Amino acid sequence: MSSEERYVFVIEWFDQAASLIRKYNLTYFTVDNTIDMFDIKNRRIFLKRCQYPGLSVSELFIGATVTIYSRQLKVIDYADVFTRQKFETQRSKTFGMIKPDCYNNIGKIIDIIYSKGLRITNLKMIKMTLTNARQFYAEHTGKPFFEDLTNFMSSDVVVGMELVAENAVPKWRELMGPTNPITAKTDSPNTLRAIFGTQGTHNAVHGSDSATSASRELNFFFSLPNSPAVLNNCTCCIIKPHAIYQAGKIINMILEEGFEISAMMMVHLDKPTAEEFFEVYKGVLPEFTAMVDHMTSGPCIAMEIRQENVVNAFRQVSGPLDPEVAKHLRSNTIRAAFGIDRVQNAVHCTDLPEDGVLECEYFFRILSGR
Ligand code: CMP
Repeated sequence: MSSEERYVFVIEWFDQAASLIRKYNLTYFTVDNTIDMFDIKNRRIFLKRCQYPGLSVSELFIGATVTIYSRQLKVIDYADVFTRQKFETQRSKTFGMIKPDCYNNIGKIIDIIYSKGLRITNLKMIKMTLTNARQFYAEHTGKPFFEDLTNFMSSDVVVGMELVAENAVPKWRELMGPTNPITAKTDSPNTLRAIFGTQGTHNAVHGSDSATSASRELNFFFSLPNSPAVLNNCTCCIIKPHAIYQAGKIINMILEEGFEISAMMMVHLDKPTAEEFFEVYKGVLPEFTAMVDHMTSGPCIAMEIRQENVVNAFRQVSGPLDPEVAKHLRSNTIRAAFGIDRVQNAVHCTDLPEDGVLECEYFFRILSGR
């Protein structure tokens, strides 16, 4: 029986040409990592069972977007009881937040999160208002530390994350360590609060205490509109899908080079959006189509980056477009360190000084509906 173990999901695909949402069953056969797709409405095989090395079982969970043969498919439900039982016990979500005292350590913390096997399925930097912070921490209203806590949490930017793992809530709490960093440093020195926290309120990271809180906190945080984007003296950097697991290292490199990251969001671009954003490269870059395909193949992280003369300064840190050239000529650049080829070259960065604001506006005003 286990030799034909299979997971079946209901997935949706928005067929742009027909303006229709089409539904399929996607089956993943664990024995040989093959997949097939069945058209639910027309009751026929849509994709014959085949190898699809670009898709791993860890990418399949409710709410995920996966790309199969350039189609973006949204996983909306389990299609059978076996799959539901297997996945509901195995994979869950929690809410994690990097607090204002850890701005300089955002990259290091994201890197630790990935290295411990948690996946980041959504991420956004915001600056909470005092009212937001008081609502978020409403359960602590009246406690002696409430005013301090809410003032601190609204004093500067935070990065909120949807984290997915087996037993995500306890896993993230274990990685964070004891609430009080002083206790953490003696009792659990390898935890985030021991490494990055300083005292009670300034304890580096937050995590939900139960699945119910996780759901409330995720809904609350990701519906907050206040992106801290400044939209002047800025350049746009997008960490590309292939480099997403290196995002922590890339962000750390950017901060260590002295740039300010003033806005950040994870986004899964669809084809029309990617084509619109990269339109100026159409007919100019031979790899335009491959680039659009890659940019829509998984989540990216878009950032607004600021400094004096930032567009040119950031291009220097990104390095030459082609990672092979970068490795030879500019080995200490982002593309030399994390790029694979001209399409999978780790990051997009704004080319022309006059486009910095426009590209940041695209993500932090237009796509965010601000
Ligand atoms: P967090 O996980 O964000 O949830 C509530 C926060 O309140 C907690 O982390 C701390 O930052 C803060 N907190 C909890 N207990 C105390 C305390 N005794 N003194 C100061 N701050 C506290």
